[in-house]
Amino acid sequence: MSEHDPDIDHERSDGKTLWHGRFAGGPAEALMAYTVSLPFDQAMWRDDIDGSMAHVRGMARVGLLTGAERDAILTALESVATEMASGSFEFVESDEDIHTAVERRVTELAGPAGGKLHTARSRNDQVATDLRLWCKRELLEVARGIHGLQLVLLTRALDAGTTYLPGYTHLQRAQPVLLAHHLLAHGWALARDVDRLLATRTRLDVSPLGAGALAGSSLPIDPVGTAEDLGFAGVFDNSLDAVSDRDFVAEAVFDLALVGIHLSRIGEEWVLWTSGEFGFARLDDGYATGSSMLPQKKNPDIAELARGKSGRLIGNLTGLLATLKGLPLAYNRDLQEDKEPLFDSVEQVTLAVAALTGMIATATFFPEAMQAAADEETTAATDLAEYLVRAGVPFRDAHAIVGAHVRATLAGQGSLRDLVAADPSLGPEAAALVGPGVGVSMRSSRGAAGPAAMPVQVESYRAMMDRDAERLGL
Ligand code: ARG
Repeated sequence: MSEHDPDIDHERSDGKTLWHGRFAGGPAEALMAYTVSLPFDQAMWRDDIDGSMAHVRGMARVGLLTGAERDAILTALESVATEMASGSFEFVESDEDIHTAVERRVTELAGPAGGKLHTARSRNDQVATDLRLWCKRELLEVARGIHGLQLVLLTRALDAGTTYLPGYTHLQRAQPVLLAHHLLAHGWALARDVDRLLATRTRLDVSPLGAGALAGSSLPIDPVGTAEDLGFAGVFDNSLDAVSDRDFVAEAVFDLALVGIHLSRIGEEWVLWTSGEFGFARLDDGYATGSSMLPQKKNPDIAELARGKSGRLIGNLTGLLATLKGLPLAYNRDLQEDKEPLFDSVEQVTLAVAALTGMIATATFFPEAMQAAADEETTAATDLAEYLVRAGVPFRDAHAIVGAHVRATLAGQGSLRDLVAADPSLGPEAAALVGPGVGVSMRSSRGAAGPAAMPVQVESYRAMMDRDAERLGL
């Protein structure tokens, strides 16, 4: 533990570790400095106390604690919770991690009964329990935040009405699409993220408490009862598995990395849209930054960080997977490396979702610029080919005919509209398809980008949002 950490009270430490009995000497400073996890696992203090309370009640139920001992420990745990919540809890040098710190303080407050808290329990099942409780709460919060972003996308989509912009492939203008359609495309991706987070949450909703260090206990503990007490949906079947796997953390970090990738894609588009080159949107002052040197600048830093930080989220995932790979059963200290990537991913995604939600909610769209870009004549090429298809021309031939007109217009031989009007196989009726705003109205098939298909999509998006609101307890 760092000597310089102002939160550590060196005076109050008796220097004793939890395991001091077997050791003649105390831990080396370098060992403590390297192995300590308190700086980051403090974040689980509430879960650690909840887990300990359930363990204590469970032990009293099976006669391992008297009623008086149970009450003494529970009262001490409540005091620890109060101290933690108010920030008055004083850590000491030998507090290796949050579990050690809580137990040490309980023994100070509860007297001899405190020494019974860790009966039939190891930090191995304790930390796995804490982390699953932490995930249950935090993943739900992240999913709720994403739901809020999805709602803003819906609101902006409804406001957008019949505004259209170029749809791109290869970032080359391809076919016009409704702005609403474009915005909801991201909303659907985020819906799968919410679903994934909830599925991960369901899968990890299993209590490891009672697995002990690795093999369970010879004492008559009640893992089913403590699981119920803690609100877990299930209880472990194999103690070795219960204490040693962190697949649930890997899943959570993957889900969050994928959210990050979806946010990154949104970010990239907003960087483009707000550029002078595109001019499709302007950020509200509150959600843009200036330049320290260039007075005219208004920069999309939120969008860029949503893009940039996705690298870090992917790093958290790959780092964790590498840590887990090759660990023999059961607990290994390597597993302590699960928390920082998880906590960081949750924090970064939470911050990104909030910032992007505000940015998108407050931005101004420029429909004229979007539509002018989409009205470029050549974006009607597919509609012209499909016009020929309706007249019985095989699509491959139609593609070649229209392609030749596009080549001619790009070579300066006239507007596409005029060339099409002059072609007897196409003519004026086909030429009308080249007009501004016509293209987007043509796409009416299910899930398509045009106004005729939009109400169906909006209705099913709304139904998805309602179902999710219920699942998220909103
Ligand atoms: N801080 C440790 C962790 O996060 C607690 C478990 C320590 N267990 C042990 N057997 N040394 O994994």
